[in-house]
Formats: sequence, C-alpha cells, structure tokens
Amino acid sequence: MNRPRFLLALDQGTSSSRSILFDTQGRVVAMAQREFRQIFPQPGWVEHDPREIWNSQLATAQEALGKAGVGAADVAALGITNQRETTLVWNRGTGEPLCNAIVWQDRRTEPACAALRARGFEAMVRERTGLVIDAYFSGTKLKWILDNVPGARDAAKRGELAFGTVDCWLAWQLTGGAAHATDVSNASRTLLFDIHRNQWDDELLAMLDIPHEVLPEVHASSHLYGHTQAGLFGAPIAIGGMAGDQQSALFGQACFSAGLAKNTYGTGCFMLMHTGEECRASSNGLITTSAAQINATPEYALEGSVFIGGAVVQWLRDGLHAIKGSEAVQNLAESVPDSGGVMFVPAFTGLGAPYWKPDARGAILGLSRGTTVAHIARAALESIAFQSAALLQAMSRDLAGSGGVTELRVDGGACVNNLLMQFQADLLGIPVVRPKVIETTALGAAYLAGLSCGVYASLDELAAHWQAERVFHPTMSRQRAGELMQNWEHAVAQTVL
Ligand code: G3P
Repeated sequence: MNRPRFLLALDQGTSSSRSILFDTQGRVVAMAQREFRQIFPQPGWVEHDPREIWNSQLATAQEALGKAGVGAADVAALGITNQRETTLVWNRGTGEPLCNAIVWQDRRTEPACAALRARGFEAMVRERTGLVIDAYFSGTKLKWILDNVPGARDAAKRGELAFGTVDCWLAWQLTGGAAHATDVSNASRTLLFDIHRNQWDDELLAMLDIPHEVLPEVHASSHLYGHTQAGLFGAPIAIGGMAGDQQSALFGQACFSAGLAKNTYGTGCFMLMHTGEECRASSNGLITTSAAQINATPEYALEGSVFIGGAVVQWLRDGLHAIKGSEAVQNLAESVPDSGGVMFVPAFTGLGAPYWKPDARGAILGLSRGTTVAHIARAALESIAFQSAALLQAMSRDLAGSGGVTELRVDGGACVNNLLMQFQADLLGIPVVRPKVIETTALGAAYLAGLSCGVYASLDELAAHWQAERVFHPTMSRQRAGELMQNWEHAVAQTVL
C-alpha cells in the first residue's frame, strides 16, 4: 500500500478562508480561497458569522482536494491555522453559535480593559500571560458575550456552552463535536492562559468571571486532535496540528530556534522572533507569546503586532479611491522618487505594538503644494515598513547584549512588493529574506500535522526544505535611516488628539 502523499492546510484568516494542499516536500499542489462577510454593527465593532467561517472553510478544503484530484485517503493529515483571538461561543448540545464571533480587531471591550488596568491587574496579567490588557485579546470578548447574551452566563455555569477561538470551532465542526480543543499558541492569546505552566489559570478566570466549564482542552500544536467526520471528505482525515496563524508562519519559515524572526505582511503586520525555551519579557512594548509546540515543552516568541499593514492599501483603494486595485499601488508609489516629506500614520483603529495607543487615529503630515496622490500612496506603503521597523527596534532593545536579529524572513501578501521590501531592508539595516514558498502560514500548519502523523521525523528535515527566493540588502546610510525613523516617531506622537 502506498503511503499518503499530501498534507492539507486549512488557513482560516480574517478576510478569507483558504485551503492549501502541499506535497511532502512543502510545495503547493492546489489552493482554494473564499471571502466571507465582514460585519460592522457599530463603529469599532467587527464580527464574523461562525457558520460562514465554517462553510467557507469546508468549501475551500473540498475544492482544493477536487482541483488536485486527490482523495482523503491520499492525505496523511490536515493542519488548522487561523486568525487568532477571534472569540466564539456555541451550545454544546446543538452546536449552534450564541452570537456572531467577535473579531480580534473589535474594540468594544476597551472600557472593560481600562477598568481592569485601573484595578491594578496589569503586572499579574503580563507576568502570567505575556500579554498587555487590551481589547485585542479574547478574554474580555468572552466576558462580553457571557454578560450580554441573555441567559449565557447561567448556561455557561451549567456546562452547556463551549468557548473557542477559530481553530477550536473548526476542529469541533470537523469532528462533529468530538473535539473541543485548542493548541497552546491559540490559548496563549486569550488572557486566560498561564504560558509558563501551559494551563488555564484560575486567577485570570476569576478576574474576568469566566466559568471553567466553557474552556476547551489544550494540547501541543503538533498533536492528533481527532478525525474529520467521514461524510465531509469521503473518508476520515486525521487532524494532526493546530496553531495560530502567526505562530504557524514562524514555524513555516523554519524559525525553530532562538533568534530567528519573521514578519508577515497581511491585513496587519506581525513580527515574531523565536526565543527558544526562554520566556523573555519585553521592556519595550512587545508581548510574549507561546510559539507552536511539538511536544509538552513550552517554547516562546516575542511578538509585535501592527493593526493596519496591508489594510492601508485597501484604504487607498476604497476610502481615497486613489487606485483601482491593490496591485496598482507599487506603480503609483514608484512614479515619485520618494514620499516628498509626507508621513502617513495609519492608526485607523488605534496603534498596537510597540505604542499601545487605543485612542490614536490616522494622520497624514508634511503636505505641501507639490504633494500628489502618488506621494501619499508612497507614504502609505512606507508606513508599513516604518511600523515594522519600530517593532524590530523594540525587539533589538529587548535583546541588547545577546546578538539581536541578523536577518528578517518575510511572508504574507504584501511581501511580493519589491519597493516595500527594499525600503524595509533600508530602514532595518539587515537583510530581508523572501522565501520561495511565501504561503508559510499554511505551510506551518501542514508541517505540524506532518510531524504528528510521522510524515516528517525531525525539525531538521523541515528546515532543509526552506529556501530563499530573494534577499533585499540594505543600501541606505544608517544616518539617513535614523533620520527617517525620527520623523516617523514624531508623526506617531501627533496621532492622539
Ligand atoms: O492576531 C490576529 C492575526 O492572527 C490575524 O491574522 O492574517 O487573519 O489578518 P490575519
């Protein structure tokens, strides 16, 4: 009998569900993608319909297999990777969601976070979870659902409700309710999880008044979570891995050991540096998070999250009508030699790391009579690199005396933009390396699944697959880069009215 030859990754992102079928060399064989609705019930609120998440995800998985003509029996295992922090609650008996999912970008719980900060919980939360108290993370979103959906808290106490992030919701659906489980990398984004002991924490649960009964089991990221219901793909497929999308991308970039870092240029930008088994606390506005784990040994990363990255290009298209399609931004930006002194801080939803300014709003500075839409487009593109450079500077300060980051591996949609990548290298002063396979988020999930089902024997085997496609070397003088970063910081300081 032939061994199964493929690994299937389910990549459930903020704006679309994607499924990618890989061969065991980590090459893309087939891909399918579906967008789903973004729901904005009030300013600052962002929701997804859990059924749309599931239906779109399932459809893409079936489509990817269909395109490749591959049956379930040829798939060794599937891995799930997902938009993190997005919070769902459903009924354990019926599987019905209680309400829409509250998306990571949703700011409705900021007042609850301010109250927790005022009550002096910050130090304890940071020490135990590695996080700051911010509406970004799941804990206050879950509390909001229990407090605001009629009857939810009582039902939760009776054990009738299940909480989960998107990975957990998908595993529940795939297994027909047999698995109510998440992995450490997703659990570490909830504000409820002790990243040192790899366990839910009673004191954090008490702080947010969350009953234990709603919580999923937590396992390593590479783990046999169960099997898909036979009806979904014709035969059961093992679910062999789960990880939050950014930790999955770190894994897919073969950043398995301390000092290796990646930046993903998606809707937002997420820079993660592996710190091995050392749980490093940041003194410079970054958070500490659990990395994908292949066994019970905790591993960690330092992370900086930029809320508006590639989304600034969508704003140029949909808000400013400066371009027809996102791909036009590079040409428009390249039609001028530089931004002409324009600085653009896209703080549309506040600023994340390293600033953590929930009240900040976007700003365009340095306009003159000669400013054109091309300068603004260039400044918008550059803002992605400036925000990422601020993250790397924070990381370097945290690592002072221990080597620092020597190269940055990049992935995500906007990393195909050469102008952006060159400017990024210029600001950072280190090489920016784009790999051959830029679908590293999905690849990480496929690798995690492949490890648990024995397709791969070791991390070294995976590291050997990773190959650079192009390296962007810095060409700007360090003095000029320093001046630009100063201008950026000055612009950031203007964003709170
Ligand atoms: O923390 C949020 C992050 O996981 C979302 O990623 O790629 O869906 O925008 P993405």
